[in-house]
Amino acid sequence: MRAFTAEWATAVQQEINADEEYRAAGRRWTGGLSLRLTDSAEEGAVFLDLQAGECREARPADRADLERSRAIVVGPETVWTRLLSGDLDPMLALASGRLSLEKGSLVSLLTHARGARALLQAAARASSARFGHRGSVESHEAGPTKHRSGERRYQTAGGRGLDHALLPMRLWHKAKKLGVWDPQDIDFSRDVEDWTELSRDERELILHLSALFQGGEEAVTIDLLPLIEVVAAEGRLEEEIYLTSFLFEEAKHVETFQRFFGEVAPDHGDLSRFATPAWLRIFSAELPAALDRLREDRSPGAQAQAAVTYNMIVEGVLAETGYHAYHVMLERSRILPGMQLAMGLLKRDESRHIAYGLYLLSRLTAEHGDGAWKAIEAGMGRLLDPALAVIEEIFAAYEEVPFGLRQEEFTGYALDQFRHRLARLERARETGGLLTEVPE
Ligand SMILES: [Fe+2]
Ligand SMILES: [Fe+2]
Repeated sequence: MRAFTAEWATAVQQEINADEEYRAAGRRWTGGLSLRLTDSAEEGAVFLDLQAGECREARPADRADLERSRAIVVGPETVWTRLLSGDLDPMLALASGRLSLEKGSLVSLLTHARGARALLQAAARASSARFGHRGSVESHEAGPTKHRSGERRYQTAGGRGLDHALLPMRLWHKAKKLGVWDPQDIDFSRDVEDWTELSRDERELILHLSALFQGGEEAVTIDLLPLIEVVAAEGRLEEEIYLTSFLFEEAKHVETFQRFFGEVAPDHGDLSRFATPAWLRIFSAELPAALDRLREDRSPGAQAQAAVTYNMIVEGVLAETGYHAYHVMLERSRILPGMQLAMGLLKRDESRHIAYGLYLLSRLTAEHGDGAWKAIEAGMGRLLDPALAVIEEIFAAYEEVPFGLRQEEFTGYALDQFRHRLARLERARETGGLLTEVPE
């Protein structure tokens, strides 16, 4: 079936209305949405009349339809073709700018991310007769990586030394200076006083964010080991040296939040009340699965998926947005100075972790091309939606959000982190270069 025809519009409508996922996820979207081909003037647009999880009408869009659309998603035929054949993730297409918005706000559309994804997937199913089905990301077997006994050559003792110009060594030198702060040295005495002055809702929101961090820091501490084993087995000594500081720092982050809960907020109650579905999906399923997989599969695709999940999504999108939230809540209100200091130190450590992740992903892409890149694109696209859903779940827990926080600000911030790093990875891929920026 040809895409963007009247017949296709009807098939898309039927797919949408048969889709349980869209019925639930699209519940909060009401209004017209048009999909348009940029390189086709007349027939290249369809209008979907969407009302709270249902598609009431779908037809080729005329001018009035485009005017009444709440959002118009546009893109060239090559992009629509990839998307409708399942070769390109719809969220990635939007976040990376391959599809753009002629009308409407990207943040507000991505706030409805699950609905948008379900809808575009329904459109893809309606097109499958023409475009075929989703392909899978190839998994490459890793080359021989184990040291065979008797053949091991020691890099430093053998005279080759360490390459101090490599990004991991430059991060290591930073980490030895900046990552050695002691969580036990942080003075929480004023935080203890401030805590009693906060309103119930303010305390609950700080507990909420801190509980997600506490679980998240523990998860990344537990889950990093398989990646360290991979770089050790591949003989990348400089990377292994850097990763020792990485793991040490995550362990200190766990300790920092423990001090907060033990000393500042001992009245915290059962913290598991904050673990909502999207957070659990990322921290109890996606992250451990992506890293555990490295124990059996050291292919470039598996390594890329691990670094995307760990460094780009968990650290790059969620942790960074979380620090921004602490900054807004604590610094603007001039409260909890111990936590303010701690969050500044954590954020600085995380910036090195993310820099390593970018380096690793650019190295995998430079060395293995599509074998790594397809996994990067697939992982970034698939995980953006649950990452934004974590933010959505936090805000959904409050009738009136304390400290005047607005969901759009944080969804926008998260999206900026995502897009900025994806763009850097794409540029590195085009030039075949490595990402070697050392953060402050
Ligand atoms: Fe951390
Ligand atoms: Fe980290």
